[in-house]
Parts: sequence; C-alpha cells; structure tokens
Amino acid sequence: MRILSGIQPSGRLHVGNYFGMMDPAIRLQDEGEAFYFIADYHSLTTVHSPEELRENVRNVAIDFLACGLDPSKATFFRQSDVPEVTELSWLLSTVTPMGLLERCHSYKDKTARGHEATHGLFAYPVLMAADILIYDSNIVPVGEDQKQHLEVTRDIALKFNNRYGEVLAIPEPRIRQEYAKVPGLDGKKMSKSYGNTLELFGSEKATRKKIMSILTDSTPVEEAKDPSDSIIIDLYRLVASNAEVEAMENDYKNGGVGYGDFKKRLFSAYWDYFEPMRKRREELLADPGYVDEITREGASRARESAAATIKRVREACGIY
Ligand code: ADP
Ligand code: TRP
Repeated sequence: MRILSGIQPSGRLHVGNYFGMMDPAIRLQDEGEAFYFIADYHSLTTVHSPEELRENVRNVAIDFLACGLDPSKATFFRQSDVPEVTELSWLLSTVTPMGLLERCHSYKDKTARGHEATHGLFAYPVLMAADILIYDSNIVPVGEDQKQHLEVTRDIALKFNNRYGEVLAIPEPRIRQEYAKVPGLDGKKMSKSYGNTLELFGSEKATRKKIMSILTDSTPVEEAKDPSDSIIIDLYRLVASNAEVEAMENDYKNGGVGYGDFKKRLFSAYWDYFEPMRKRREELLADPGYVDEITREGASRARESAAATIKRVREACGIY
C-alpha cells in the first residue's frame, strides 16, 4: 500500500498542520510504503522570494523530521527533485475539464485574499493530482481543507483511465475527523494565511504571549463559564490527557477560575507535549548535512517510482 502526502513550504509549520496532516502521516508510516514530500513547486504560486523559499524548504524538512518522520520507514523528498511530476501534470491537464478547476475553492479563496490570479494558481489541483498519481498512491492523509483536491484528483484519474485504459491507481483521502479542522487563536480555522497560528517551534516567550492573548468573553473569575464553545479547551484537548481536559471543563462549569489560569494550563501542556520534538530539532539543526542526505536519498527512490509511472502513461497516450 502506498501512502503519500505533501506539505507546502509556505511558512512556519503550526499545530493545525501537525494534528491535521503530519501526525496522521507519521503514524501511517508503519502501515505501508510512505512517500512524503515538500511541495516547493506548489508554493511558487504564493512565495516569490528565492531566499524565503529556500529557508522555508529547509525548515519544513527539519521540522517534519523532528516531529517523527522516520527516514528508515518513509521516503522523504522535495517535489522539485522529481521533475517528471510536471510532465504528468501536463498530460493530466489534457483530460481535465475546465469546470472541475473552476469549482475549486482554493483558487477563489487565494485570489480573494490578494494572490495574483495566475495560471499556476488555477492549475494547482492538476499538479497536486500528478503528485498523487505519479506514485500510484492509495491513501493520502490530509486535513479537511484538502478534501476537494482529492476529489479532483480522483475525477482526473477516472477521466484518464476512461480515455486510455486502467493506467492510474485511484487514491483515497484519509482525513482524521477529530483533527480535521484545528481552530486558530481567533476561533477560525488555523492557517498561515489568517495569522492565527500557534507555531510548532516558536520561542517560549512568543508562544506564551500568543496563548495568553487568546480572546475570551468577560465572564468574571468567580462565575461559571461555558466549556462547550471555548478555543482554550479545543486546543487543550489536542495536547492534554482526558483527565486534564475533564478537570478544566469542570473548573469552567464550577466557576472560581479565570481565563488567565486556563491559558497558563494550556501553555504548559502545549510546551510539554512538543518538548521531545524540540529536542530532536536541536540535534537536527546541529547536523545540516544529515537533512540534505535524507532528502537526496528520498528523491532518488521517489524518482524511480515516478519514472515507471511516466513510462506507462506516455505509452498509454501514444508518446514513445
Ligand atoms: P495553511 O492553511 O496554514 O496554509 P496548508 O494549506 O499548508 O496550511 O496545509 C498543510 C496540511 O495541513 C494540509 O494537509 C492541511 O489540510 C493541513 N492543515 C492545515 N491547517 C489545518 C487545520 N487548521 N486543521 C487541520 N489540518 C490543517
Ligand atoms: N495542496 C496541499 C496543501 O496545501 C499540498 C500538496 C501538494 C499535497 N501536493 C500534494 C498534499 C499531494 C497531498 C498530496 O496542503
């Protein structure tokens, strides 16, 4: 079974990325042949500084390894180290109906937020389909916001197979419902583009400040509070034990504890949860050659798999 996922190097990784995609991907690396990559071609649609791109790629590589991606189990590489994927993207674009792309939310959202309306941004889901289909992927762990892209991928693969025969494997998304949409500090979906993230590896001071600045209502300390609609509890649930969450819920209901106190508990649980990852990250930062070696080796394995698919696809289309 091939498991595949990608993440764009478009900024610092956050808790939403971790629980929505990275942690599920890391858990799946024991269940099949996992391929995970850094989608640098994709991020060219929004990151336009070469220095920033290089820096982001490096950070994502280090952070993903620090979080537990195990290169002895999973193949880890940069998307652009397998340029065959751009060829497949073109071949797939010739079977992709315009209407399918016109319906995609991400193009509309990104242009509405001020990103330039380029062909690359519009055709983004076709490149993503190529990423998935070129490795004959079966399972794709992603967060809820990528669901539509997976549907587009399946549609494109079916169209291709319809025209040329059973050439491409049809993938399935794997969306972990309990973490499908991690809330940001303002209660909206946590996202780099909303500036509401809790970074995985932010400094202690900055992280504490961010958590302490979560907006709450003005219920006085002694009064009971509503635990059912609280960003603090929603985030706490990700990093605290069931007993700790229950204790916080009870303190909400009973009154007598202020939001400042709850935020301190959240910070402390959060900081402890990511402590082993921070340690591992320090080790990786001290050994820059190691990370390059991992992604280089990963690319060579991924390229082998991509070459076999491209050969099959070219033959199916009549290009020898
Ligand atoms: P962002 O919205 O911050 O730009 P990306 O689009 O780069 O994040 O997402 C990378 C991966 O992380 C995707 O699989 C996405 O579904 C997942 N992800 C991002 N934000 C969240 C979130 N708030 N909750 C759950 N998963 C998320
Ligand atoms: N579009 C994904 C995101 O923004 C990144 C991505 C690119 C991806 N290619 C992929 C995810 C292939 C899964 C499979 O998060």
